[in-house]
Amino acid sequence: MPVTVVVGTQWGDEGKAKITDLLAKEHGYVVRYQGGHNAGHTVVINGERYALQLVPSGVFYDHVVPVIANGVVVDPVHLVDEIERLEARGIDCSRLKLSSHAHLIFPWHRAHDALAEARRGDAKIGTTLKGIGPAYADKASRTGLRAGDMLDAVRFAEHFASTAKYESDLLVALGGEALDVDALTALYAGSIAERVRPYITNTVSLLHDALDAGAHLLLEGAQATFLDLDHGTYPFVTSSNPTAGGACTGTGIGPKSIDRVIGITKAYCTRVGAGPFPTEALDSYGEAMADIGHEFGTVTGRRRRTGWLDTFMLRHAARLNSLTEIALTKLDVLDSFDLVRICTGYEIDGEPLQHYPDGLDELAAVTPVYRDLPGWQTELRSAKEIDELPAAARKFLDVVEQEVGLPVRFVGTGPGRDELVQRLA
Ligand code: GDP
Ligand code: IMO
Ligand code: MG
Repeated sequence: MPVTVVVGTQWGDEGKAKITDLLAKEHGYVVRYQGGHNAGHTVVINGERYALQLVPSGVFYDHVVPVIANGVVVDPVHLVDEIERLEARGIDCSRLKLSSHAHLIFPWHRAHDALAEARRGDAKIGTTLKGIGPAYADKASRTGLRAGDMLDAVRFAEHFASTAKYESDLLVALGGEALDVDALTALYAGSIAERVRPYITNTVSLLHDALDAGAHLLLEGAQATFLDLDHGTYPFVTSSNPTAGGACTGTGIGPKSIDRVIGITKAYCTRVGAGPFPTEALDSYGEAMADIGHEFGTVTGRRRRTGWLDTFMLRHAARLNSLTEIALTKLDVLDSFDLVRICTGYEIDGEPLQHYPDGLDELAAVTPVYRDLPGWQTELRSAKEIDELPAAARKFLDVVEQEVGLPVRFVGTGPGRDELVQRLA
């Protein structure tokens, strides 16, 4: 399997990092293809918890080259900090590569993010305030600075200072605060550029040469299908394309090279921030999912909204991403439930929908149709094989497979690296 994509199928935090970490064993390169440090990717190794934001989840293996590809937006101060924090814990980041084409996030992007959210008032998106949207907007406007610009120190300092001056004036005009252009230029064009420079390279050629030499690549998505800028619940989305097509543009690897697309799916649903959520459970089941599943954002600490698994949504995700299989995570979170529900379709005025709603008004009007199953009320944690799972849990997996039409190849039974059951093809 030379190229595998790992993609979230819901609204993020499905447990992508844990599956990426597991698969990284069999891959030479683990490549982040979009998003930025809005992501929070947790890996638990021997009880130690690592929360990654920009650094790919393959960094824990000595044989893996972690790559931040061209589709990612990079806050260089954050990157330096994340590398330092990992290295302080004994994780070697020296193999890390950063695409020269990756766009950079600067303080004015964060300031614009905050101003835009304030302006939206009650209609705010609930962004992570990391400057993601404004940085991608500059990329699309062709005004952004890229990591490769840091390679020429003098030109970068000039370009940075003139952009910072313009952005400072703009922020003041919009009612924000002026920037300290000289101090920022000294920091970004000085010590930060110096720290980041050694990682910068042409990752497109690097990855193609690796493929030609027979290496296996794992392309790691951040966020998820329903946060996709084109296919998600716009405007309550992020500003990049987490769907599998984004793995092609975000790395420079063509679609024909990809042979496996794993849809990471939580056994229930969560969503951080605003936006529609048809199966949201505003009751004791939803509370239990949040409590038992520790559903609090890694990046912002916000409580994630919780609800039942939605296979209508998953069928759409399967189409959008060409999914080949599903990894179903956090099934253990439902261990104590007397009842588990699976949404199998949507209705409006009693009429079943044939397609996932095209707009927010339609999505807001749907009534989910549920299939109720008895809970297993047994701890899944110790299971190592599929047939060691209780019959009621296996039934849950069967229903998911039938409804989505894809095999469930991995089942998460706990946060730890080895707390997982695999079902081979
Ligand atoms: P990501 O953003 O998709 O990588 O997911 P996050 O790391 O933000 O959130 C997933 C959370 O669930 C993390 O705290 C993981 O340690 C945890 N987790 C992952 N898989 C499992 C699982 O199968 N069971 C349990 N109980 N926790 C899991
Ligand atoms: P991982 O990779 C969950 C959400 C934010 C907000 C919207 C837009 O850990 O799954 P942004 O800052 O991107 O402009 O915010 O997207 N969001 C996430 N939700 N997991 C994430 O990443 C997210 N990254 C962004 O909460 O609703
Ligand atoms: Mg996360």
